[in-house]
Amino acid sequence: MSRKGIILAGGAGTRLHPLTMVTSKQLLPVYDKPMIYYPLSALMLAGISDILIITTPQDQAAFKHLLGTGRQWNVKFDYAEQPEPNGIAQAFVIAADFLRSEPSCLILGDNILYGHGLPDALHRAGARDRGATIFSYWVDDPQRYGVIEFNPNDEVLSIEEKPQNPKSNWAAIGVYFYDEEVTDLVKQLAPSARGELEITDLNVLYMRKRQLKVERLGRGFAWFDAGTHDSLLEAGEFVRVLQHRQGQLVCAPDEIAFHNGWISAAELKELAAKAGKTQYARRLLDNLR
Ligand code: TTP
Repeated sequence: MSRKGIILAGGAGTRLHPLTMVTSKQLLPVYDKPMIYYPLSALMLAGISDILIITTPQDQAAFKHLLGTGRQWNVKFDYAEQPEPNGIAQAFVIAADFLRSEPSCLILGDNILYGHGLPDALHRAGARDRGATIFSYWVDDPQRYGVIEFNPNDEVLSIEEKPQNPKSNWAAIGVYFYDEEVTDLVKQLAPSARGELEITDLNVLYMRKRQLKVERLGRGFAWFDAGTHDSLLEAGEFVRVLQHRQGQLVCAPDEIAFHNGWISAAELKELAAKAGKTQYARRLLDNLR
């Protein structure tokens, strides 16, 4: 069994107009890297190297240009199209052939995660071979998200999509681990009132089977979905400040591939050379000192 990854990077990005009129949201810069580097880094930190990238038909060529086959990081990329943004759970309809009854991890292409202990939390989720594990973050504005209610034993009592009266401040974020049943379960879903196959409905199916686990990310973690002008700028500023203070890169696939032992020191040097006279390149080379 090897867990496969999916990055869902379609969508209309209407909240970022006019920025997203001619380019995909997930290719926009978050400080020094294209946005998709961040969710890709999370998958690589989880040890996942076989990854399907789902984009709109019109943006696929640009993603292929940026990421290629994945050989540079010793990972493997496949590409698929989502013609219309008909919901996050549609990723599992599109990915059915790619997954072929393997467990998976889906991450949204605009989700940025950072924090001490994140690789451990991702590995814990990846190591569970039954059911689903989702991630949750305490937010100030839960009405905008899927909201999770827990009982005193930390079990999930309910998940509601964008509720008017949220039962907690725990939002489900855009990282979801599922077992191999997901491609069958998704067939049970019908489009919601807004015409989407809802990821919350899929999670409810796992919850009813008592097979839904939630990893709660505490105060030490940062999570952004860079879907508005403010959150895009805030995420970029977060990355800038951290990299500047620590002199280390936040979510650089080149570096993670090296730390995972997927590429050699010589290969990392080559990648740094390709990055030119940038701080990014210099910080990649710092790994070899
Ligand atoms: P959203 O932010 O909900 O949607 P969006 O990116 O289209 O933006 P907007 O609301 O501004 O129009 O999507 C969250 C992430 O999931 C984002 O990375 C896009 C992706 N997504 C898809 O790829 N396909 C879909 O059908 C949906 C609903 C989202």
